[in-house]
Amino acid sequence: MVWFPLIPCPFARFFQRPKAPVVAPPPPSLEAFTVEHPTKTVLEIGPEFTLPAHEWAHDVILASSGFGKSYLAGVMTEEIIESGGLVVIIDPEGENYTLAERYPLLIVGGDHATVGLNLDEASGDDIDRIMQTVLRDGVSIIFDLSERTQKGQRELFTLIGGSLFTMQDKPELRRPVKFIVEEARIFAPQKASDLPKNKDGETCLSVFENIATRGRKRGINMLIATQRPASISKDILSQCNRWWFGGMQSEQDYKALKPHLEEAGVTAEEIKALPKGAGEFYFSANGETAKIQTRKRKCKHGGSTPGIDPEKIKIASRSDLAAAVKQLDGLGSLDI
Ligand SMILES: Nc1ncnc2c1ncn2[C@@H]1O[C@H](COP(=O)(O)OP(=O)(O)OP(=O)(O)O)[C@@H](O)[C@H]1O
Ligand SMILES: [Mg+2]
Repeated sequence: MVWFPLIPCPFARFFQRPKAPVVAPPPPSLEAFTVEHPTKTVLEIGPEFTLPAHEWAHDVILASSGFGKSYLAGVMTEEIIESGGLVVIIDPEGENYTLAERYPLLIVGGDHATVGLNLDEASGDDIDRIMQTVLRDGVSIIFDLSERTQKGQRELFTLIGGSLFTMQDKPELRRPVKFIVEEARIFAPQKASDLPKNKDGETCLSVFENIATRGRKRGINMLIATQRPASISKDILSQCNRWWFGGMQSEQDYKALKPHLEEAGVTAEEIKALPKGAGEFYFSANGETAKIQTRKRKCKHGGSTPGIDPEKIKIASRSDLAAAVKQLDGLGSLDI
Protein backbone atom coordinates (compact mmCIF):
# COMPACT_ATOMS: atom_id res chain seq x y z
CA MET A 1 0.00 0.00 0.00
CA VAL A 2 1.32 3.51 -0.85
CA TRP A 3 1.03 6.15 1.89
CA PHE A 4 0.76 9.80 0.90
CA PRO A 5 1.98 12.50 3.23
CA LEU A 6 -0.83 14.55 4.75
CA ILE A 7 -0.67 18.03 3.21
CA PRO A 8 -2.99 20.62 4.75
CA CYS A 9 -5.57 21.65 2.16
CA PRO A 10 -5.81 25.47 1.87
CA PHE A 11 -9.57 25.19 1.21
CA ALA A 12 -10.22 22.93 4.18
CA ARG A 13 -11.97 25.61 6.18
CA PHE A 14 -14.62 25.96 3.44
CA PHE A 15 -15.51 22.29 3.86
CA GLN A 16 -15.44 22.18 7.64
CA ARG A 17 -18.10 20.05 9.18
CA PRO A 18 -20.69 22.05 11.04
CA LYS A 19 -20.24 22.19 14.79
CA ALA A 20 -21.63 19.25 16.73
CA PRO A 21 -25.42 19.57 16.92
CA VAL A 22 -26.81 20.97 20.12
CA VAL A 23 -27.73 18.14 22.42
CA ALA A 24 -31.43 18.11 23.21
CA PRO A 25 -32.23 18.80 26.84
CA PRO A 26 -32.71 15.72 28.99
CA PRO A 27 -36.30 14.62 29.46
CA PRO A 28 -37.97 16.42 32.33
CA SER A 29 -37.11 14.63 35.53
CA LEU A 30 -40.05 16.23 37.27
CA GLU A 31 -43.65 16.08 36.32
CA ALA A 32 -43.78 18.54 33.40
CA PHE A 33 -45.90 21.58 33.93
CA THR A 34 -49.09 21.56 31.93
CA VAL A 35 -50.86 24.79 31.18
CA GLU A 36 -54.00 25.29 33.19
CA HIS A 37 -56.85 27.33 31.76
CA PRO A 38 -57.66 29.79 32.98
CA THR A 39 -54.12 30.51 34.16
CA LYS A 40 -53.57 31.49 37.78
CA THR A 41 -54.49 35.02 38.74
CA VAL A 42 -52.42 35.12 41.92
CA LEU A 43 -48.81 34.28 42.72
CA GLU A 44 -48.79 31.78 45.60
CA ILE A 45 -45.58 32.76 47.37
CA GLY A 46 -46.25 31.20 50.75
CA PRO A 47 -48.85 29.07 52.51
CA GLU A 48 -50.72 32.21 53.54
CA PHE A 49 -49.36 34.81 51.18
CA THR A 50 -50.35 35.64 47.61
CA LEU A 51 -49.79 38.57 45.26
CA PRO A 52 -51.80 39.61 42.20
CA ALA A 53 -50.31 37.83 39.17
CA HIS A 54 -50.07 40.63 36.67
CA GLU A 55 -49.36 43.65 38.84
CA TRP A 56 -46.62 46.01 37.70
CA ALA A 57 -43.76 45.91 40.23
CA HIS A 58 -40.01 46.18 40.60
CA ASP A 59 -39.14 43.67 43.36
CA VAL A 60 -35.96 43.68 45.39
CA ILE A 61 -34.86 40.84 47.68
CA LEU A 62 -32.21 41.79 50.23
CA ALA A 63 -30.59 39.34 52.65
CA SER A 64 -27.19 37.98 53.59
CA SER A 65 -25.79 34.83 51.99
CA GLY A 66 -27.79 31.68 52.72
CA PHE A 67 -30.95 33.45 53.90
CA GLY A 68 -33.06 32.25 50.96
CA LYS A 69 -32.96 34.99 48.28
CA SER A 70 -32.47 32.63 45.33
CA TYR A 71 -35.00 30.20 46.78
CA LEU A 72 -37.61 32.97 46.98
CA ALA A 73 -36.68 34.19 43.47
CA GLY A 74 -37.19 30.60 42.30
CA VAL A 75 -40.64 30.42 43.90
CA MET A 76 -41.56 33.76 42.27
CA THR A 77 -40.32 32.50 38.89
CA GLU A 78 -42.38 29.30 39.16
CA GLU A 79 -45.45 31.35 40.00
CA ILE A 80 -44.88 33.90 37.23
CA ILE A 81 -44.50 31.19 34.59
CA GLU A 82 -47.56 29.31 35.87
CA SER A 83 -49.61 32.48 35.64
CA GLY A 84 -48.66 32.98 31.99
CA GLY A 85 -45.82 35.49 32.50
CA LEU A 86 -42.52 35.63 30.65
CA VAL A 87 -39.19 35.67 32.48
CA VAL A 88 -35.70 36.67 31.33
CA ILE A 89 -33.22 35.51 33.97
CA ILE A 90 -29.64 36.69 34.45
CA ASP A 91 -28.02 33.88 36.39
CA PRO A 92 -24.39 34.51 37.41
CA GLU A 93 -24.28 31.39 39.63
CA GLY A 94 -25.72 28.83 37.19
CA GLU A 95 -28.44 27.80 39.68
CA ASN A 96 -31.59 28.29 37.67
CA TYR A 97 -31.32 25.45 35.15
CA THR A 98 -33.51 23.24 37.38
CA LEU A 99 -36.52 25.33 36.31
CA ALA A 100 -36.15 23.83 32.82
CA GLU A 101 -36.86 20.36 34.27
CA ARG A 102 -40.46 21.43 34.75
CA TYR A 103 -41.07 24.44 32.52
CA PRO A 104 -40.39 25.15 28.85
CA LEU A 105 -37.39 27.47 29.19
CA LEU A 106 -34.47 28.23 26.89
CA ILE A 107 -30.99 28.20 28.45
CA VAL A 108 -28.05 30.09 26.96
CA GLY A 109 -24.61 29.36 28.41
CA GLY A 110 -23.43 27.01 31.15
CA ASP A 111 -23.52 23.22 31.42
CA HIS A 112 -27.23 22.94 30.67
CA ALA A 113 -27.44 25.15 27.56
CA THR A 114 -30.16 24.37 25.03
CA VAL A 115 -29.16 27.16 22.64
CA GLY A 116 -25.86 26.53 20.86
CA LEU A 117 -24.39 29.99 21.27
CA ASN A 118 -20.86 30.33 22.57
CA LEU A 119 -21.15 33.27 24.94
CA ASP A 120 -17.44 34.07 24.47
CA GLU A 121 -18.23 35.00 20.87
CA ALA A 122 -21.77 36.36 21.28
CA SER A 123 -22.44 39.49 19.24
CA GLY A 124 -25.19 42.07 19.65
CA ASP A 125 -26.93 40.55 16.61
CA ASP A 126 -26.91 37.08 18.22
CA ILE A 127 -28.48 38.38 21.41
CA ASP A 128 -31.04 40.44 19.43
CA ARG A 129 -32.04 37.32 17.49
CA ILE A 130 -32.51 35.38 20.73
CA MET A 131 -34.47 38.19 22.35
CA GLN A 132 -36.75 38.56 19.32
CA THR A 133 -37.54 34.84 19.45
CA VAL A 134 -38.18 34.99 23.19
CA LEU A 135 -40.60 37.90 22.87
CA ARG A 136 -42.30 36.78 19.67
CA ASP A 137 -42.86 33.17 20.82
CA GLY A 138 -43.36 33.95 24.51
CA VAL A 139 -40.75 31.42 25.69
CA SER A 140 -38.86 32.30 28.86
CA ILE A 141 -35.07 32.21 28.97
CA ILE A 142 -32.12 31.85 31.35
CA PHE A 143 -28.77 33.44 30.55
CA ASP A 144 -26.32 31.32 32.55
CA LEU A 145 -23.24 33.51 33.00
CA SER A 146 -21.60 31.28 35.60
CA GLU A 147 -18.58 30.37 33.50
CA ARG A 148 -17.61 33.97 32.76
CA THR A 149 -15.28 36.37 34.55
CA GLN A 150 -16.96 39.30 36.28
CA LYS A 151 -15.90 41.55 33.39
CA GLY A 152 -17.42 39.09 30.90
CA GLN A 153 -20.63 38.88 32.95
CA ARG A 154 -20.90 42.67 32.93
CA GLU A 155 -20.28 42.91 29.17
CA LEU A 156 -22.95 40.29 28.49
CA PHE A 157 -25.41 42.01 30.82
CA THR A 158 -24.93 45.22 28.80
CA LEU A 159 -25.75 43.29 25.62
CA ILE A 160 -28.70 41.35 27.04
CA GLY A 161 -30.31 44.18 29.02
CA GLY A 162 -29.76 46.61 26.13
CA SER A 163 -31.32 44.19 23.67
CA LEU A 164 -34.35 43.54 25.90
CA PHE A 165 -34.90 47.28 26.32
CA THR A 166 -34.61 47.95 22.57
CA MET A 167 -36.82 45.03 21.53
CA GLN A 168 -39.53 46.04 24.00
CA ASP A 169 -39.60 49.40 22.21
CA LYS A 170 -41.11 47.65 19.19
CA PRO A 171 -44.89 47.41 19.70
CA GLU A 172 -45.13 44.23 17.61
CA LEU A 173 -42.76 42.41 20.00
CA ARG A 174 -43.61 44.05 23.31
CA ARG A 175 -45.11 41.92 26.05
CA PRO A 176 -44.89 42.00 29.87
CA VAL A 177 -41.54 40.59 30.99
CA LYS A 178 -40.09 39.92 34.42
CA PHE A 179 -36.37 40.65 34.20
CA ILE A 180 -34.83 38.61 37.02
CA VAL A 181 -31.30 39.54 38.07
CA GLU A 182 -29.52 37.44 40.68
CA GLU A 183 -26.42 38.92 42.40
CA ALA A 184 -27.54 42.34 41.18
CA ARG A 185 -24.61 44.08 42.90
CA ILE A 186 -22.34 42.75 40.10
CA PHE A 187 -24.31 44.70 37.49
CA ALA A 188 -25.40 47.71 39.55
CA PRO A 189 -22.42 48.50 41.78
CA GLN A 190 -22.50 51.59 43.97
CA LYS A 191 -18.89 52.34 42.92
CA ALA A 192 -18.95 52.36 39.14
CA SER A 193 -15.59 53.76 38.02
CA ASP A 194 -14.12 50.79 36.15
CA LEU A 195 -17.09 49.19 34.37
CA PRO A 196 -16.43 47.97 30.81
CA LYS A 197 -18.05 50.18 28.15
CA ASN A 198 -19.49 49.04 24.84
CA LYS A 199 -18.89 50.97 21.60
CA ASP A 200 -21.76 53.34 22.44
CA GLY A 201 -20.29 54.07 25.88
CA GLU A 202 -22.98 52.03 27.67
CA THR A 203 -22.14 50.02 30.81
CA CYS A 204 -24.08 47.33 32.66
CA LEU A 205 -25.04 50.01 35.19
CA SER A 206 -26.37 52.49 32.62
CA VAL A 207 -28.40 49.70 30.96
CA PHE A 208 -29.69 48.56 34.37
CA GLU A 209 -30.67 52.15 35.26
CA ASN A 210 -32.50 52.52 31.96
CA ILE A 211 -34.54 49.40 32.69
CA ALA A 212 -35.21 50.48 36.28
CA THR A 213 -36.34 53.98 35.37
CA ARG A 214 -37.86 53.57 31.90
CA GLY A 215 -38.67 49.86 31.79
CA ARG A 216 -42.25 50.12 33.07
CA LYS A 217 -43.52 51.87 29.95
CA ARG A 218 -41.94 49.12 27.91
CA GLY A 219 -43.51 46.37 30.01
CA ILE A 220 -40.31 45.36 31.81
CA ASN A 221 -40.63 44.62 35.53
CA MET A 222 -37.53 43.74 37.52
CA LEU A 223 -36.89 41.24 40.27
CA ILE A 224 -33.44 41.80 41.70
CA ALA A 225 -31.69 39.96 44.50
CA THR A 226 -28.49 40.86 46.28
CA GLN A 227 -26.54 40.04 49.43
CA ARG A 228 -24.86 43.41 49.86
CA PRO A 229 -27.33 46.29 49.95
CA ALA A 230 -24.43 48.59 50.92
CA SER A 231 -22.70 47.96 47.60
CA ILE A 232 -25.63 48.22 45.19
CA SER A 233 -26.56 51.40 43.31
CA LYS A 234 -28.96 53.50 45.37
CA ASP A 235 -30.55 54.80 42.14
CA ILE A 236 -31.62 51.28 41.21
CA LEU A 237 -32.85 50.51 44.74
CA SER A 238 -34.93 53.68 44.80
CA GLN A 239 -36.92 52.48 41.77
CA CYS A 240 -38.10 49.34 43.59
CA ASN A 241 -41.63 49.33 44.95
CA ARG A 242 -41.86 45.85 46.52
CA TRP A 243 -39.26 45.04 49.15
CA TRP A 244 -38.39 41.63 50.56
CA PHE A 245 -36.15 41.88 53.62
CA GLY A 246 -34.43 38.71 54.83
CA GLY A 247 -31.86 38.00 57.55
CA MET A 248 -28.93 40.40 57.50
CA GLN A 249 -25.62 39.61 59.22
CA SER A 250 -23.40 42.59 58.47
CA GLU A 251 -23.82 45.79 60.42
CA GLN A 252 -22.77 47.83 57.34
CA ASP A 253 -25.55 46.28 55.25
CA TYR A 254 -28.04 46.78 58.04
CA LYS A 255 -27.08 50.48 58.18
CA ALA A 256 -27.49 50.80 54.38
CA LEU A 257 -31.01 49.45 54.73
CA LYS A 258 -32.00 51.31 57.88
CA PRO A 259 -34.10 54.04 56.20
CA HIS A 260 -35.97 51.45 54.13
CA LEU A 261 -36.51 49.20 57.16
CA GLU A 262 -37.75 52.14 59.20
CA GLU A 263 -40.18 53.08 56.44
CA ALA A 264 -41.41 49.47 56.44
CA GLY A 265 -41.68 49.49 60.25
CA VAL A 266 -39.25 46.59 60.67
CA THR A 267 -36.76 46.76 63.56
CA ALA A 268 -33.12 45.64 63.69
CA GLU A 269 -34.06 42.96 66.23
CA GLU A 270 -36.73 41.54 63.92
CA ILE A 271 -34.29 41.31 61.00
CA LYS A 272 -31.55 39.79 63.16
CA ALA A 273 -33.99 37.21 64.55
CA LEU A 274 -34.80 35.74 61.11
CA PRO A 275 -33.39 32.19 60.96
CA LYS A 276 -30.99 31.19 58.19
CA GLY A 277 -32.27 29.03 55.32
CA ALA A 278 -35.86 28.95 56.57
CA GLY A 279 -37.39 31.20 53.90
CA GLU A 280 -38.74 33.91 56.21
CA PHE A 281 -38.94 37.50 54.96
CA TYR A 282 -40.58 40.81 55.73
CA PHE A 283 -42.50 41.93 52.65
CA SER A 284 -43.25 45.62 52.27
CA ALA A 285 -45.26 47.40 49.56
CA ASN A 286 -47.82 50.19 49.31
CA GLY A 287 -47.22 51.23 52.92
CA GLU A 288 -47.98 47.77 54.35
CA THR A 289 -45.61 45.18 55.77
CA ALA A 290 -46.15 41.48 56.42
CA LYS A 291 -43.92 38.71 57.72
CA ILE A 292 -44.07 35.84 55.28
CA GLN A 293 -42.79 32.31 54.87
CA THR A 294 -42.01 31.13 51.34
CA ARG A 295 -43.59 27.88 50.18
CA LYS A 296 -41.55 24.83 49.17
CA ARG A 297 -40.21 24.96 45.63
CA LYS A 298 -41.72 22.78 42.92
CA CYS A 299 -38.37 22.45 41.14
CA LYS A 300 -35.18 21.36 42.86
CA HIS A 301 -33.33 24.37 44.28
CA GLY A 302 -30.08 24.68 42.29
CA GLY A 303 -28.29 26.66 45.02
CA SER A 304 -28.77 24.42 48.04
CA THR A 305 -26.21 24.71 50.80
CA PRO A 306 -24.20 21.45 50.54
CA GLY A 307 -24.19 19.14 53.54
CA ILE A 308 -20.76 18.43 55.06
CA ASP A 309 -19.28 15.00 54.33
CA PRO A 310 -17.82 13.76 57.70
CA GLU A 311 -15.10 11.92 55.73
CA LYS A 312 -13.78 15.29 54.60
CA ILE A 313 -13.23 16.56 58.13
CA LYS A 314 -9.74 15.48 59.20
CA ILE A 315 -6.35 16.80 60.21
CA ALA A 316 -3.80 16.23 57.42
CA SER A 317 -0.99 13.84 58.41
CA ARG A 318 2.71 13.93 57.43
CA SER A 319 2.04 11.21 54.83
CA ASP A 320 -0.85 13.29 53.35
CA LEU A 321 1.65 16.14 53.01
CA ALA A 322 4.26 13.87 51.37
CA ALA A 323 1.59 12.56 48.95
CA ALA A 324 0.53 16.13 48.06
CA VAL A 325 4.16 17.18 47.42
CA LYS A 326 4.61 14.13 45.17
CA GLN A 327 1.40 14.91 43.27
CA LEU A 328 2.61 18.43 42.56
CA ASP A 329 6.11 17.33 41.59
CA GLY A 330 7.13 18.60 38.15
CA LEU A 331 5.29 21.94 38.28
CA GLY A 332 8.64 23.76 38.21
CA SER A 333 11.99 23.84 39.98
CA LEU A 334 12.41 25.36 43.43
CA ASP A 335 14.98 28.12 43.54
CA ILE A 336 16.62 27.21 46.88
N1 LIG B 1 -38.45 28.41 52.04
C1 LIG B 1 -37.44 27.55 52.21
N2 LIG B 1 -37.71 26.28 52.56
C2 LIG B 1 -36.69 25.39 52.72
N3 LIG B 1 -35.38 25.68 52.53
C3 LIG B 1 -35.08 26.92 52.18
C4 LIG B 1 -36.08 27.92 52.02
N4 LIG B 1 -35.48 29.07 51.66
C5 LIG B 1 -34.15 28.78 51.63
N5 LIG B 1 -33.92 27.50 51.94
C6 LIG B 1 -32.60 26.84 51.98
O1 LIG B 1 -31.61 27.76 52.43
C7 LIG B 1 -30.40 27.61 51.74
C8 LIG B 1 -29.91 28.93 51.17
O2 LIG B 1 -30.90 29.46 50.29
P1 LIG B 1 -30.52 30.32 49.01
O3 LIG B 1 -29.68 29.55 48.06
O4 LIG B 1 -31.78 30.87 48.48
O5 LIG B 1 -29.64 31.47 49.69
P2 LIG B 1 -29.19 32.88 49.11
O6 LIG B 1 -29.73 33.92 50.01
O7 LIG B 1 -29.52 32.99 47.68
O8 LIG B 1 -27.61 32.80 49.31
P3 LIG B 1 -26.44 33.40 48.38
O9 LIG B 1 -26.47 34.88 48.56
O10 LIG B 1 -25.17 32.80 48.96
O11 LIG B 1 -26.69 32.99 46.98
C9 LIG B 1 -30.63 26.56 50.66
O12 LIG B 1 -30.04 25.33 51.06
C10 LIG B 1 -32.12 26.45 50.58
O13 LIG B 1 -32.53 25.17 50.20
MG1 LIG C 1 -28.37 33.01 45.91
